[in-house]
Amino acid sequence: MRLGSRGGTVYDIVIGLGLLSSVPRMLNASFPSGKMFLITDANVSRRYGRKFHRSLVLAGAQAVLFEVPAGEDSKNHKVAHSLQTRLLENGVHRDSLVIALGGGVVGDLAGYVAATILRGVKYIHIPTTLLAQVDSSIGGKVGINHPMGKNLIGAFHQPSAVFIDPGVLRTLSAMEFRNGLAEVVKIAAALDEDFFEQLERRATRLKKENSTGLADIIKTAVGLKAGIVERDEKEHGIRKVLNLGHTLGHAIEAATKYTVPHGQAVAMGMVAEAMIARKMGLLKHKDYVRLVKLLACFRLPVRFPRSIDKRRFLEALALDKKSDSDGTGFVLLKSIGHSVIGVDVPRAFIEALL
Ligand SMILES: NC(=O)c1ccc[n+]([C@@H]2O[C@H](COP(=O)([O-])OP(=O)(O)OC[C@H]3O[C@@H](n4cnc5c(N)ncnc54)[C@H](O)[C@@H]3O)[C@@H](O)[C@H]2O)c1
Ligand SMILES: [Zn+2]
Repeated sequence: MRLGSRGGTVYDIVIGLGLLSSVPRMLNASFPSGKMFLITDANVSRRYGRKFHRSLVLAGAQAVLFEVPAGEDSKNHKVAHSLQTRLLENGVHRDSLVIALGGGVVGDLAGYVAATILRGVKYIHIPTTLLAQVDSSIGGKVGINHPMGKNLIGAFHQPSAVFIDPGVLRTLSAMEFRNGLAEVVKIAAALDEDFFEQLERRATRLKKENSTGLADIIKTAVGLKAGIVERDEKEHGIRKVLNLGHTLGHAIEAATKYTVPHGQAVAMGMVAEAMIARKMGLLKHKDYVRLVKLLACFRLPVRFPRSIDKRRFLEALALDKKSDSDGTGFVLLKSIGHSVIGVDVPRAFIEALL
């Protein structure tokens, strides 16, 4: 699949079971002279990273491996700065290539390092979580967190290629797999009723990380996201539909001090936002029920958290709204597969949730 944006960037998204083992040879053929910096986290390194690095070197590449601790805590200025220092110490050049091998954390962090070092070097992403395969690796949003909030520092920096191997999901924990399914449901609910129906039909089988047919689901989700990014790379308009469930989801994450994983917060956010859409007369009850049923079938949480820090929740919501240029924020479902952006939700509806 090829993604081309109006901004002029064009790159390949390659999807295939067992693809990971052929990537070192492919990379060495496409970047024969430059240095490669492979960035991964400790978990992924143990399972795939070290072997991948050995294969790169065996294929003839000049490749250096950097490991960061696994988890969201690595997505900060300190870790980014230390990676930048190590790249400079190891002779990074404008022709160098950064390779992100890992989930959304590694992708956002390594992509940010690639975007900022020497005013930007090429990078490729090999996403290893379902969330990263269907969502974060597509679209060029890279960045790190700031003490004032998530993803507040970053850039749009498109990768040169994305290589997706659904086979690596076999080692993913069930919880991380479910987090990815929340983003798959989001893409289907926001954009495509046929895809949503397909998920409903195959929900029971899809619960397993190694299920057959998963590659097709990933392909469809990636195609839908890529289609939106092509139309609106920098999120001035239509790309905002992909924030379905995220306005309330981000506030839930902040109010629970990030103890609720992102995918789960997005699931709760989607349901709460659908409830608001229903109360505002935008969404039919039957569509609300379909959304709740599918998320519940994937064992994702569908109830708003019982005890939540109300002050933090409202503060996070206000910050989220401020960072949105038109200040209106909400993406709401009109029906399954169709959503509207920029809806101003009266405060009473938010208060009712709390
Ligand atoms: N840039 C974007 O457009 C975008 C979109 C959505 C989310 N994000 C970001 O993505 C991040 C979340 O990403 P995530 O959910 O992938 O989390 P993650 O990168 O922290 O990965 C989750 C866990 O799974 C482990 N892991 C990764 N691949 C594995 C594998 N194949 N087998 C076993 N374990 C594996 C990791 O080591 C980690 O412990 C957040 O920081 C979020 O802000 C970015
Ligand atoms: Zn998300």
